[in-house]
Amino acid sequence: MKKFSIFLVLFIVGINLSAQNKSVSQKNSLKDVVAGVEVLEVKEGESSKELELSAKDMQWWHDAKFGLFIHWGLYSIVGKGEWNMFTSRVDIREYKKLADQFSAEKFNAKAWAQCAKDAGMKYMVLTARHHDGFSLWDSPGSFDHFTSMNSAAKKDIVAEYTKACRDAGLGVGLYYSPLDWRFPGFFFPEMYRENAEQLRDQTYAQVAELMKNYGKIDVLWYDGGGDAWLGLGGLKYGMGGVGWSRRPSNEKYEGKPLYEPLKLNAMVRKYQPKVVINNRSGFKGDFKSREMEIGDFDNSNAWEKCGTMGTGWGYLAGKTEPYPLKKLLTQLSNIVCRGGNFLLNVGPRPDGQIEPAQVARLKEMGDWLKKYGECIYGTQGGPVLPTKFYGATSTSKAIYIHVWDWPADHKITIRGLCGIKSGKALTVDNVSVAVAEDTVEISCFDIKKDNLLSIIKLELYNR
Ligand code: GLC
Repeated sequence: MKKFSIFLVLFIVGINLSAQNKSVSQKNSLKDVVAGVEVLEVKEGESSKELELSAKDMQWWHDAKFGLFIHWGLYSIVGKGEWNMFTSRVDIREYKKLADQFSAEKFNAKAWAQCAKDAGMKYMVLTARHHDGFSLWDSPGSFDHFTSMNSAAKKDIVAEYTKACRDAGLGVGLYYSPLDWRFPGFFFPEMYRENAEQLRDQTYAQVAELMKNYGKIDVLWYDGGGDAWLGLGGLKYGMGGVGWSRRPSNEKYEGKPLYEPLKLNAMVRKYQPKVVINNRSGFKGDFKSREMEIGDFDNSNAWEKCGTMGTGWGYLAGKTEPYPLKKLLTQLSNIVCRGGNFLLNVGPRPDGQIEPAQVARLKEMGDWLKKYGECIYGTQGGPVLPTKFYGATSTSKAIYIHVWDWPADHKITIRGLCGIKSGKALTVDNVSVAVAEDTVEISCFDIKKDNLLSIIKLELYNR
C-alpha cells in the first residue's frame, strides 16, 4: 500500500466530489449491476460479520502458516515490475500488444506446485489478474478479451494452475484486482460513470467466473479494491479560491467503489462458501493483508504478511537474486511468533519459469522446515511476546522459543512461564536450559557459525 500511495500521489489527480458520490452508491442496486450473473441479495444494513468465516473454517489457514505468492502476467515480459504500465504511462493499445509475446513456453503449473511443496508451503496464490487487466484465464467477462486465451500461449493458465495446486494437496488461492488501469472510470468514478459501471460489471463477471469454473477455491486474495484505492487523487480542489492542493495522506477520499464490496463478496460466498477472503476489496474479510512492515503481535485477528524473495513482485530483469536463507527464515519465524502467516512471492520469468536460484532458496527453507517444522505449523504466536532477540510459538504440549539473534552475553531469561517440564535446543547450538519455578534461563555457550535460527523447545506438563 505504501508503494501504491506514493505512485498515486505522484501521478494522479483526483477531485473530491463526495456529495455526488454518496448519491452514486445509494442509487445503485445490485440488480442494475450485472446482467447474467446470479448473486445473493444482501439486505440493507446487513453486517459483514455474516460473510466472515467461523474460527473452525479458518483453522486450516492458521495451521498452514506459509504460502507461495506468484506475480506473473504481461508485465513479466517488460521485466520492470507489475506497476510499469502505470508508472511509465504506457499507451494501453501498445501494452495490449505484449499479449502476442506471452507464449508461456516454460510455464509448468506442476513445477510451480512442486516448488511450493519443496519449500514447505501449504497454499499458493496466483495473480489471476493484476491491475493491468490481463487475465490469466478464459474470461468471457474480460473487457476487450484481454486474456491468456488471446495471447501467444492460448492457454487457460488458471485452469492448469488450480489443478496442479489441488493435485499437490496445496490450498488453491487466486489474486484478483478490481482495479483495472484501462478504465478511467476507476480513477474518477463520478465523471466517467458509464466507464466505471463497465468496470464494475467486469469485476462481478470475472469474480463469478473464477469462483464458479475452477472447482474449490481456498483463498481469494483481492488487491486494489476498497475505499483506500479510490482515494486516487494526489491532489484535491478547494472552492472559494483555494484551488489545487495536495491531499494530506490522512485525509481519505470519501467515495465508495461502485462495485459494492459486501454484495460482491456475498456472491463469492454463494459459489465458494468456505473460501478465505482477505481485506482488500472493501469488505473486512477473513484476514488482513500486511505489506512492508511485519507489524505488531496479534493472535486474535487473522493476518498474513506478504513479502518478496528479493526485489519486487513481478519479474525484474537482472534483479532476481533471492534474499539470504537466514533473512527469509527469520522473517517466517518472526511472523509466526507474532501470530501471522507468511505469503512469500516469486515473480517468474516471462516464459513462466521460476528463477532457479529462487527455487533453490525456497527448497532450503523447506529443508529447514522438514527438520524443525514443529515450531511453525499448527502453532500459535506467543505466549511470550517478541523482543528484539527472540519470540515464541506454542501448542498445547510445548512452547518454542525462536532466537533470531543472541544478546551479547548469550543469555535469555524469561519470567512468568509456568508448567514447564523440561527444555532443550532443537537446532544445532550448544544450549543449556535451566527451569526454576516460573523462570526459564537459556544460555548459549557455543553459537555455531552456520546457525540460522536457534529453536528451544520447552515441554509442558500434561494439562
Ligand atoms: C502492492 C503492489 C502490488 C502487489 C501487492 C502485493 O500493493 O502495489 O503490485 O501486487 O502489493 O501485495
